[in-house]
Amino acid sequence: MLSVRENISLLPYNTFGIDAFARWMAFPRSTEEIKELLDSNKPEWNPKFVLGGGSNVLFTRNYDGLIIHPLIKGIEITQEKNRSVWVRAGCGENWDDFVKWCVEHDLGGLENLSNIPGNVGASPVQNIGAYGVEARDSVDRVELVMLADQKKRTLSARMCRFNYRDSIFKNELKDKCLITHVIFRLTREPVLKTHYPDLEKELDDYPETTIQAIREAIISIRRRKLPDPAETGNAGSFFKNPVVTAQQAHLLKQSHPAMPVYDCGENKAKLSAAWLIEQSHWKGKSKGNVGTHKNQPLVIVNHGGATGTEVVDFARTIQRVVQNHFGILLETEVNIL
Ligand code: EPU
Repeated sequence: MLSVRENISLLPYNTFGIDAFARWMAFPRSTEEIKELLDSNKPEWNPKFVLGGGSNVLFTRNYDGLIIHPLIKGIEITQEKNRSVWVRAGCGENWDDFVKWCVEHDLGGLENLSNIPGNVGASPVQNIGAYGVEARDSVDRVELVMLADQKKRTLSARMCRFNYRDSIFKNELKDKCLITHVIFRLTREPVLKTHYPDLEKELDDYPETTIQAIREAIISIRRRKLPDPAETGNAGSFFKNPVVTAQQAHLLKQSHPAMPVYDCGENKAKLSAAWLIEQSHWKGKSKGNVGTHKNQPLVIVNHGGATGTEVVDFARTIQRVVQNHFGILLETEVNIL
């Protein structure tokens, strides 16, 4: 019988380094163990929260319910057709170990998503993205268990309703299911995506552009620019890049000619949250134990001993100053509990 532990410190389970407690916590290693756990449900195990690598969550209080931290492992090729290869990975696999495995096996598609913290199971939830690539470009389908009735379901990529840092798992299925496996469609004939300016520049140092070179280049860029959660608590980008109408972007650009604007079609444009924060003079600034990172102000860092409430208060300050400067409300990317 799978054990459910009581009063567990969440410090080792969140990259922000927040010291909160879970009333109950379980660590299932298979779909069967998850079903068994849900089947033996107790009233005090509610509400329930599924915690992956803890790299996109901020605890502002103790969790008075059951946290399920799935440890389902395994990476296997399930199908090959022409140059396409389908790979099924357990939700508990570390994301970057999985990307490394793919690159080592010469399977292209995920190399631009190198060095992102977190586990495989979370990749479709916020449709992780970096350097011109998003998880949705390679996700073929997602296997899950519904928390209410333990039914297994498989969602096609289309059913996941992916969008920029968004999916059905942040909307209709929020807190309703547990993703057990993700199946990616990768390729032995990769189309290399190198057009992201930082990446293009970094690749100049490599004799040949391969998926291996892209992975290495991205690891170098990220190590240089982003704080290592093992040293400085953080959850990556705290805010999303705001998506506005093309008209709104055009008006802002008139008063701020240097402002980066990325056309995203459908009469929409994406702005750079990092730029908006920097121009509001909040890059590398701190209040108490919390600050914005010196190289990337979109990342909020815990200088040590910060509480979740302190982080939220700091984030509200950033939202207020950006709103005052530009009339734009930055939406949080991190899941605040
Ligand atoms: N910029 C500034 N000041 C800065 C940093 C950036 O003005 O200090 C401006 C520059 O114009 C730069 C632009 O912002 O060209 C974009 O910066 P960057 O390439 O660092 O990317 P980002 O848009 O700030 C996004 C993702 C990151 C991802 C990078 C790289 C979101 C919310 N964030 O950041 O994802 O690593 O692109 O592709 O979309 C994460 O989600 O946790 C994350 C780190």
